[in-house]
Amino acid sequence: MLLPFALSCLAIFGSTTAQRTIQWSFVQNGTSGIIPVELITISPTLMLMYDRADGNPLLLPNGERAWAALWNIETQTATPLLSQTDTFCAGGAFISNGTLLHPRGDGRMGIRLFGPCTSPTGAGCTVFEDPANIHLKVLRWYPTGLRIPDGSLMIIGGSNFNTFYNDAPTAVNSIEFFPSKEDTVRPSQFLLDAQPVNMFPRSVVLPSGHVFIAANNISMLYDVESNTELARLPEIPNGVRIANPFDGSLQLLPLTPPLYEPTVLVCGGSATDDRRPASNLTNLDPTTKQCSRMTLTPAGIARGWQVELMPDQRILTESVLLPNGDVIFINGGHTGYSGYPTVSNANATLSNAANPALRPILYRTSLATNRITQEGLPSSNIPRMYHSVASITGKGNIMVAGSNPNPAVIPPGTIPFPTEFRVEYLNPDFITNNAPRPVIQSAPTHLLFNQRATMKVTIPRSLLSNTLQVSLMDLGYVTHAQHANSRLVVLEHTLVGNTLTITGPPNANIFPPAPAWLFLVADGVWSEGLQLMVGDGGNPPRPASAQGIKIPTNSI
Ligand SMILES: *[C@@H]1O[C@H](CO)[C@@H](O)[C@H](O)[C@H]1NC(C)=O
Ligand SMILES: *[C@@H]1O[C@H](CO)[C@@H](O)[C@H](O)[C@H]1NC(C)=O
Ligand SMILES: *[C@@H]1O[C@H](CO)[C@@H](O)[C@H](O)[C@H]1NC(C)=O
Ligand SMILES: *[C@@H]1O[C@H](CO)[C@@H](O)[C@H](O)[C@H]1NC(C)=O
Ligand SMILES: *[C@@H]1O[C@H](CO)[C@@H](O)[C@H](O)[C@H]1NC(C)=O
Repeated sequence: MLLPFALSCLAIFGSTTAQRTIQWSFVQNGTSGIIPVELITISPTLMLMYDRADGNPLLLPNGERAWAALWNIETQTATPLLSQTDTFCAGGAFISNGTLLHPRGDGRMGIRLFGPCTSPTGAGCTVFEDPANIHLKVLRWYPTGLRIPDGSLMIIGGSNFNTFYNDAPTAVNSIEFFPSKEDTVRPSQFLLDAQPVNMFPRSVVLPSGHVFIAANNISMLYDVESNTELARLPEIPNGVRIANPFDGSLQLLPLTPPLYEPTVLVCGGSATDDRRPASNLTNLDPTTKQCSRMTLTPAGIARGWQVELMPDQRILTESVLLPNGDVIFINGGHTGYSGYPTVSNANATLSNAANPALRPILYRTSLATNRITQEGLPSSNIPRMYHSVASITGKGNIMVAGSNPNPAVIPPGTIPFPTEFRVEYLNPDFITNNAPRPVIQSAPTHLLFNQRATMKVTIPRSLLSNTLQVSLMDLGYVTHAQHANSRLVVLEHTLVGNTLTITGPPNANIFPPAPAWLFLVADGVWSEGLQLMVGDGGNPPRPASAQGIKIPTNSI
């Protein structure tokens, strides 16, 4: 008689004072047909992925090799997508009208446009357009695409040629916008100072509207309106460097009302002295166990970066922000660097990195201490080195794909890290076991800043509804360990019966306008995502009147 009582007490105790440990499992299913160097969640069932075309087995209807595809997470199949130009090594983002932009400087400095594509089957979304009248001001490979509060794209840095270190003459140390804000690019002293480890600079829009940028071991605060570097922020401790080709992965941790205090976390990278030439590096060089975390408020800056250690060293690790606010670090290697074979011993394995990191790491954001664990996380048996990706899907699991540290497609059996087409999912136990999850029954298609919306939801009885969190997310634009625009804003809500009333983010600094995803999290179990448009869906730049209300925030 006592036992059931004791167990139910334990269950309640467990869910309110300790975090539920999710048991994760890997499932391999299907092959991508192209090497997904870039991966973006675009609908409840579709993932957009792209690469250049040499050697990809997936063919377009005309028999040419595809360099882009739509991956269906229900049927585990890839549908080739016509791309008018080479998609290799770009950055990108959704802008305020739902179009995905993909800037990359090939010969004609194109900006590709895709969608908006919300049809579950991908119908109507068959082309990656590269219109002749839309282009960058300068050549850029490896730029970061950051969506800013007016819904435009800020295009940061990059190189004008394929390179390991980004120094003169390849470094493109400037910023530009699409739609354009002026006739010329904006030179950046910060990017110059971050040479030669400054490709895909890690960049985040803060609740103040300012932009935080980190590259190499330095970081800064930028004001778009006045084109000013407002402050040089603390250096990442212990010589750790984090942008390409020393890729560590950075995430903005969840923004929570009322202050939406921003904290950034970056894990992995390398503490190698960046004055050593590539010919003096090897793919067995140590990387770093270091995670560095800084709160971007005056008090947080005064404290500086706080260091936490992973159980092992990692580079080229992908970071996946989960609907509950935790972060999974997955893929990459324990030793070496990013990039194609350039280091002194790379010819032995055709890879700048070695010792694949097969077991993911979980960062438990809400805990005060011991945030990093591998409890509940299995190992994969598939190395995911350079040019591999991982992203959360609309179903709420993690899709893992790619790996090709080689300049060409290399079949299995020939070298340690051949081209990898196998797709895997990392599933939380509630998906594996088909356990009851919160369900969004009906919901709005748009969420305006500071406006209420109501929706019908079901929270299973087995989950405590008083733990409900409503997470509004940008699932990010994934490439080269960079999850640009990844973001989670906790929404204010009230739940009465099955009616959930939510309030949109107060303004566009908190969530720059674009397509987004809503997840309900109860008792550590999250729903499938619901895709909706945040903001009015108009073309950028959106006027101040469409960007919500000012709020007090302690964000720098
Ligand atoms: C792989 O996906 C197919 C199609 O959805 C499904 O029928 C099959 O059960 C899946 N296999 C595994 C191992 O999950
Ligand atoms: C950052 O890198 C520079 C240049 O390599 C170096 O002089 C400096 O000591 C590093 N900073 C830290 C905090 O390690
Ligand atoms: C790198 O340079 C140092 C100092 O000259 C030398 O001792 C070391 O052997 C070099 N390593 C490689 C892999 O070239
Ligand atoms: C690697 O092999 C290529 C082709 O054989 C050769 O051109 C290159 O010099 C080699 N690189 C090194 C660092 O040995
Ligand atoms: C979105 O806005 C951009 C910039 O104005 C424009 O080029 C693009 O055509 C727009 N997309 C749609 C679907 O209207």
